[in-house]
Amino acid sequence: MSQVDIASISRQPQVDTSPVSEIVLRTRNLTKQYKQRTVVNDLNLDIRRGEIYGFLGPNGAGKTTTIRMILGLITPTSGSVEILGSDILAHRSEVLPRVGALIETPALYRYMSGRDNLLAFSKALGGVSSKRIDEVLAIVSLTERQRDKVRTYSLGMRQRLGIAVALLQDPDVLILDEPANGLDPAGIVEMRDFLHRLAAEGKTILMSSHLLSEVQQICSRVAIINFGKLITETTVKDLTTGKGEFTVKVERAAEALALLKRQPWGQSARLNEEGDIVTSSPNGKGRELNAFLAQAGYVADELSSTRYDLEETFLRLTEGHSGN
Ligand SMILES: Nc1ncnc2c1ncn2[C@@H]1O[C@H](COP(=O)(O)OP(=O)(O)O)[C@@H](O)[C@H]1O
Ligand SMILES: [Mg+2]
Repeated sequence: MSQVDIASISRQPQVDTSPVSEIVLRTRNLTKQYKQRTVVNDLNLDIRRGEIYGFLGPNGAGKTTTIRMILGLITPTSGSVEILGSDILAHRSEVLPRVGALIETPALYRYMSGRDNLLAFSKALGGVSSKRIDEVLAIVSLTERQRDKVRTYSLGMRQRLGIAVALLQDPDVLILDEPANGLDPAGIVEMRDFLHRLAAEGKTILMSSHLLSEVQQICSRVAIINFGKLITETTVKDLTTGKGEFTVKVERAAEALALLKRQPWGQSARLNEEGDIVTSSPNGKGRELNAFLAQAGYVADELSSTRYDLEETFLRLTEGHSGN
């Protein structure tokens, strides 16, 4: 895909609808290089209190590396991370207790029960009340199974227990790396419901995923990265609704496309997989686009508002788009 397509999507105005939009987590020009390779490239993310923020990108895009830097587990090559107003590297010990995290598959003791796992982790954290352990078990819906050995748990239950560990200290910010990994659709719906409950209580959640369908179901806003670079940061709603573009079925589409691309409003015009034209229109009006094409001798067989399928948008945004 061309740069123009990316620009036309990322240029969309970011409407801030929430009156209180305290930025709880902020990365500034966050960059990580391994040898000569830039794995995370100049990343600026702003995550607001109470939102469920999706961090989306294909495998190898740099999500886990970014999360490790956010948690102060690895040092950025350059740039910074601020959580709850404090720089993570300068104020690690104050900030980290307010952040719960689950990175990739949780390191659980399989031969112990769910409850005993939570007890073991709470000891490592300096002790958590037994009441809190009851609470987190309830939040992740594992109360019934708390006495069973973890090795008898389904993958979804283990993921939930991992999140329960992250919740032990009642953190303000929850950072979950691929929490929906391996969950079936019912498991994803269950996770969505409980993440929504946590967000409603004022917790801020950052979750990564390489699958758009997961993020689409759970998150309100998403950042899409590829090759370590931010491609777009937007609402799920914005990604799925049309961008005021039109799809036009017309004969001699390549010729008509060349003409459109010469218009000031038509520079992002392109062909879709079916060979139809996708283009902006003069003054955003389908009628004017129709008239323009007809006057130039290209009478449209069909003309309709373009709707984007999220999966298609994701592929279009990430396929073959080199960050360099
Ligand atoms: N310690 C490391 N040394 C060298 N390369 C690394 C290291 N950690 C990750 N990478 C590389 O960085 C890229 C991004 O990895 P990662 O952040 O795990 O991506 P994601 O979580 O999006 O799948 C990958 O190409 C990976 O091989
Ligand atoms: Mg990863």
